[in-house]
Amino acid sequence: MPNPLYRQNILSVSDLSIEQLQCLLDTALRLKRQPRGDLLEGRLIASCFFEPSTRTRLSFETAVQRLGGKVIGFADGANTSAKKGETLADTARIISSYADAIVQRHPKDGAARVLAEFSRVPVINAGDGTNQHPSQTLLDLVTIYETQGSLHHLKIAMCGDLKYGRTVHSLAQALKRFGCEFAFVSPPSLAMPEYITEELDEADAKWQILPNLESAAEWADILYMTRVQRERFDDEEFAKIQGKFNLHAATLANAKPNLRVLHPLPRVDEIAPDVDGTPYAYYFEQAQNGVFARMAMLALVLNENV
Ligand code: CP
Repeated sequence: MPNPLYRQNILSVSDLSIEQLQCLLDTALRLKRQPRGDLLEGRLIASCFFEPSTRTRLSFETAVQRLGGKVIGFADGANTSAKKGETLADTARIISSYADAIVQRHPKDGAARVLAEFSRVPVINAGDGTNQHPSQTLLDLVTIYETQGSLHHLKIAMCGDLKYGRTVHSLAQALKRFGCEFAFVSPPSLAMPEYITEELDEADAKWQILPNLESAAEWADILYMTRVQRERFDDEEFAKIQGKFNLHAATLANAKPNLRVLHPLPRVDEIAPDVDGTPYAYYFEQAQNGVFARMAMLALVLNENV
């Protein structure tokens, strides 16, 4: 029987069955333990980034090359014919006639689904607007499993910009399926969107709003920090919220020993450098897990058996 991801698009965490999520997780952990250099031999992957990225683009491209494949693509949509008005539908038709799979990051919500509709090859969403970032979620799940030994019934605190941060949306949607509880810490204007809290309610997942980072650090198994995204605000608005949700080593004074601090990165000043040396910091290991998570995605969509 082929694996449950074979020839599938990976556009949203909500689209994935528990079986598919488990298969992705197991494969990522296995590829971390037992490297393979053959799973993408003879395959060409299009890496299409219409929006800036360091980790996602380079870890996808690392994953392709470490699995024996080759990459074409671009890191800036301004250098493509999208600038001349070419539609995403036509872009999909063209690129899917060149490559075996397409990895796309795009500033517009829903852009991955549009690309997939017109693509002849599997599409992996590398982030679309404020919507979804499923490869980030998979690497987060790999990291949470690695640090906690399970994904079940954990206490997950999410802090910072919960409104625009697509990583926290995808992660909450994934972890609600494992019986996790949630706490949210953010300025009111950047609160978790209602459509996510409604989904948590429908899944009977407990959630609460906590007033500060100290209480979240004491309560949580995972403290998931996010960047207040400067580019979403004008100067006056940004000045009002800047610095209010910054984590320091002292904030972690009453943390449980198993607490790990995660962050999708890049960070600006929401995690102070003095946190890096504490036993709670795990965000650089988390970023490294991106390679194994993305290896698993590409290997599974392009191989019947992995
Ligand atoms: N976490 C993340 O998506 O980072 P990049 O924007 O650098 O890809």
